[in-house]
Amino acid sequence: MDQRPIGVFDSGMGGLTALRVLRRILPGEDLIYFGDTGRVPYGSRGRDTILRYARQDVAFLRSFDLKAVVVACGTVSANALAELTVENDLPFFGVVTPAARAAVERTRNGAIGLIGTAASIRSGAYEREIGALDPGARVFAAPCPLFVPLVENGRFRAEDPVVNLVAEDYLAPLREAGVDTLVLGCTHYPLLAEAIGKVMGPEVALVDSGATCADQAARSLAEQGLLAQREQGSCRFFVSDSTEDFARLASIFLGGGVDGPVERVEIQKYGK
Ligand code: DGL
Repeated sequence: MDQRPIGVFDSGMGGLTALRVLRRILPGEDLIYFGDTGRVPYGSRGRDTILRYARQDVAFLRSFDLKAVVVACGTVSANALAELTVENDLPFFGVVTPAARAAVERTRNGAIGLIGTAASIRSGAYEREIGALDPGARVFAAPCPLFVPLVENGRFRAEDPVVNLVAEDYLAPLREAGVDTLVLGCTHYPLLAEAIGKVMGPEVALVDSGATCADQAARSLAEQGLLAQREQGSCRFFVSDSTEDFARLASIFLGGGVDGPVERVEIQKYGK
């Protein structure tokens, strides 16, 4: 048993889709969420910047006595997880490995689609993981840079013509390649699942990378005897920009109100 909180972070709001799953499957855990809303997006930046930001995010979270960190950001997981894991003496869970595993388990025809930020796709991390699990699998990857700003501006509904236009443009080549499984390699994308499903068709399985990460973290902490023993855990939210904007948008990601304090952090003060 370990009563300490779990830290969860993302470049912004997207990681809340993973936090939502964590809260459902581990209701007794205390969770501390950091969204770097002042510096989002990470996905259009170079690897050095992503690593520097991620180190600062972790340095802030580690100002709390944590038992584990969930990297609920596809971009950080794909570009910086190895370094963060080596530099920190506590378990780190990223989204790439569990999503790759879920995709390999689900595909029937070995053709796997992958969408994510430009930095996630450029990293090649998903291809490496999928290739290690199933060398015969073929990965068709497409960066979708407009998806994050659409979601951050509340434009994600399947009936929204702008969303449909952008989704069709990005996803048509993957549909035409015949993928039967599509990895949503960015934690913002589950909000677009209906719109994405509309373009891809009902026979294509969508893999929610944040949800698979939350599942893996829960299983691993349980196996190590590190789960908390309490009925109801708490949640604290920290952001690097306006707390009002966060609370308003976060309820969309969480599927309900923000039921914990939202505080502002001067993230530049942390780490190197
Ligand atoms: N949530 C981030 C991810 O999963 C996307 C947003 C960003 O570009 O920072 O990659």
